[in-house]
Amino acid sequence: MERLRLDKIIAASGRYSRREVKQLVRQGRVLVDGVPARSPEDKADPEAAEIAVDGEVLRYRRYTWVMLHKPAGVLSATEDGRGKTVLDLLPQELQRQGLFPVGRLDKDTEGLLLLTNEGGLAHDLLSPRHHVDKVYYARTAGTLTEADRRAFAEGMELGGLLCLPAELEILSAGPESEALVTLREGKFHQVKRMLAQRGKPVLYLKRVKMGNLTLDPALARGDYRYLTDEELRELRNFR
Ligand code: URA
Repeated sequence: MERLRLDKIIAASGRYSRREVKQLVRQGRVLVDGVPARSPEDKADPEAAEIAVDGEVLRYRRYTWVMLHKPAGVLSATEDGRGKTVLDLLPQELQRQGLFPVGRLDKDTEGLLLLTNEGGLAHDLLSPRHHVDKVYYARTAGTLTEADRRAFAEGMELGGLLCLPAELEILSAGPESEALVTLREGKFHQVKRMLAQRGKPVLYLKRVKMGNLTLDPALARGDYRYLTDEELRELRNFR
C-alpha cells in the first residue's frame, strides 16, 4: 500500500498521539524493520514494514472500530453546537481519526454504540436488507402482555410505515415491566414508539447487543474499547 508518515501510522494504533510519537522517535524507541527511526516524518508502507515501539510490533489497521458504552445525556453525533457528543468521550487521537457513530441512540438511551471510520461496512450493518439484530433492554410503565408480544411479532405500523416483525421477550410484568426488544431495523425512536403505541411508555432504554456484539460488561458508562480481531472478523462476515 501507499507509504505513510510514521507518526500517522503509529497514531492510528490509537495508543499514542502524534506528539507522543515525536518523542518516542527522538528517544530511539521506534524501530522500522529493526532500524531506529530518525524522524516521525519518515515514511513506510504500514502493511509491509515491521514497526515496533519499545520492542512491541504494532499492527496497522486501516480502519478503526470501537465499542462505546454510551451514557444518557450525550448525543450520537460527531458535532453538535448544543451539547456533548459521543465523540467528546473519546481521546484526542481517536477524535482525529474521523470516527462517526454507526447509527444513533437517543440522547437518553444508554448502551452499545459502535464508532468507526469504515463507511461501507457501517452502512451495511445498518441496512434493513442485512437483518442485523439490535437488542434493547427496556423498562416500561404498564404491564406487558402476550398480546404485546404478538403485536411486535406480527409487525406493527408506525405513522403509516410498516415495521418488520420484532421480538418482545417479557422479562417481568407488573405496574412496571421489563423486556428485551429485538429489531432488525432502526426507525426513528422505534422502540419507544412501538411500546408507546401499546400503551406501555418506555421509562429506560439500553442497547445491549448489535449483531454478534454484546455490550462488554467490563465497560462502565462512558468507557470504550477497540473491537478485537475476532469481533471484527465476525462483523465483516455477516454480509
Ligand atoms: N429505539 C428508540 O426508541 N430509541 C433508541 O435510542 C434506539 C431505538
